[in-house]
Amino acid sequence: MPNHEERYDNPLFESEEAPAAEKRRLLGSAELPLEDCLAVLESGASTAEKREAAASIGRKRDPSLKPILMQYSAHANPEVALQAVRGLLVFRSDPSVVEFLNSLRNHPNDMIQDIAEQELEGNAPVEEGPHAASPDFMKNAAVQGDVLQTLEHVPSASVHLTFTSPPYYNARDYAIYGSYGEYLNFLEEAFRAVHRVTKEGRFFILNTSPVIIPRAGRKYSSRRYAVPFDLHARLTPMGWEFIDDIVWAKPDKSVKNRVAGFETNRTPLTYKANARTEYVMVYRKKSRRLIDWNLRQYSKDAARRSKVDDDFERSNVWEIAPASDRVHSAVFPLKLCMQAVKLYSFRGDLAFDPFGGSGTLGKAALLLGRYFFMTELHPQYIARMRQNVRNEETLSDRPARFMDVSQFAAEAKQWELSCAEK
Ligand SMILES: C[S@@+](CC[C@H](N)C(=O)[O-])C[C@H]1O[C@@H](n2cnc3c(N)ncnc32)[C@H](O)[C@@H]1O
Repeated sequence: MPNHEERYDNPLFESEEAPAAEKRRLLGSAELPLEDCLAVLESGASTAEKREAAASIGRKRDPSLKPILMQYSAHANPEVALQAVRGLLVFRSDPSVVEFLNSLRNHPNDMIQDIAEQELEGNAPVEEGPHAASPDFMKNAAVQGDVLQTLEHVPSASVHLTFTSPPYYNARDYAIYGSYGEYLNFLEEAFRAVHRVTKEGRFFILNTSPVIIPRAGRKYSSRRYAVPFDLHARLTPMGWEFIDDIVWAKPDKSVKNRVAGFETNRTPLTYKANARTEYVMVYRKKSRRLIDWNLRQYSKDAARRSKVDDDFERSNVWEIAPASDRVHSAVFPLKLCMQAVKLYSFRGDLAFDPFGGSGTLGKAALLLGRYFFMTELHPQYIARMRQNVRNEETLSDRPARFMDVSQFAAEAKQWELSCAEK
C-alpha cells in the first residue's frame, strides 16, 4: 500500500486554487481510489474532506471494504464515523453488519446510536390512527383541575401542538412550590405526560424566562433561577428533540428597570441588565420520521388552507409587546400565541395549553381554525377563559366546553369504549 501522505500529496487535492467544494466533490466520488481515501482519512485534512473520503469508501459498495468501514465507524470525529456507518448500510442484509449495527446502539455519539436504531428497527410510526385527526371529546374542551390528574385521562398521541407558559417558579401566587427542585420535578412530570399525548413528530413550544426570587433581608442576596436552561436539561432526555430557541423581545419601557442603581454609580460587578426577553423554546417529539412524513398526513386542501401568510417573522427574535389582563396577572400576548399556532400547526389540528390561564391559546386556536384543549387549576381563570373564547366560539364547528376532571374522565372513558366497538 502506498504511503497515505504521499497519495494525499496528489495535486488533485493539494492545489491551493481548487475551490474547497470542488475538492470535496472529487473526494466524495466513488471513483476515487481507496488509497487516496485512506490517505485523506489519515492526514491532517479538514473534517469536510475526511467526511467525503469516508463517504467515497461507502459509495464503492464493495463488500471487501466492510472491515475498513467498521474501523472508521469508530473514528474519533463523529462526522467521519457517521459516513462510515452510512457506507455499511448498503450491506445491512449481511448478519455481520447487523451484529455490528447492534453494537452501535451503545456508541457514545447519539446520532450514530439513532442511525443504528433506525436501521435495525425500521421507520414504523408508533402511533395508531389518522395523524391529522384528534378525539372529538377533546376538541374545544377546557378542564378545570390539576394538569397531571387531567392528563391521566388524555389518550396517547392525541395532540398536534402544545404551546404553554407554565408558572415561573414562585414568581406569582397562583402556584407556590416548596423548593426549586420540587418545581422542576413537577414540570418534568407534566412535560413527560405532554410527550405521551403528543402525536408523532409534533411540536412542543415552551415559553419561560429566568426568575428572580427577592432577598429575604438586607443581609442576604436575591437568587436568580435559569428556568429555561434547567428545564431544557430535563426535556431532551425524555424524548423532546431541541429544534429552535426563539427569543420573545419586549419593548424596553415594558420591563422592570434593574439598572437604575448602576446608572448612578457605574461600579463594576453591580450591573444587572434589564431583562426584556423571554425564551420560546421549540421542541419536537423525537421521531424516526422526518417532518415530510408529518406533512404527507394532510390533504392538499388542508395544506393549502394552512399556508402561512407572507408577513411571518423571519428571525428568531420576536418583537412583541406584553399583554395585561384584568383577571390574570401573566397572560400571553395574543400575537405570540397566533404566531406559534400558525407556524407549528395545520388548520383542524388540536392545540393544547396545559397551563391555560386566561385561555389566550384557545382564542388564538379558534381564530386560526384549529381546536383547543386546555387545562387550568384555578376556577377564576376558567371563568376568564370562558369570556375570552366566547366571541370566537362561533368560528368553530364545535362549541367550547368547560368541565372538571371527573366529567372529562367520564368522557374519555366513553370515547375509549366507542373506539373499542369500532
Ligand atoms: C403563566 S400562567 C399561563 C397564562 C396563559 N398563558 C394565558 O395566556 O393566560 C400559568 C397558569 O398555570 C396555572 N397552573 C398552575 N399550576 C397548575 C396545575 N397544577 N395544573 C393546571 N394549571 C396550573 C396557573 O393557575 C396559571 O394560570
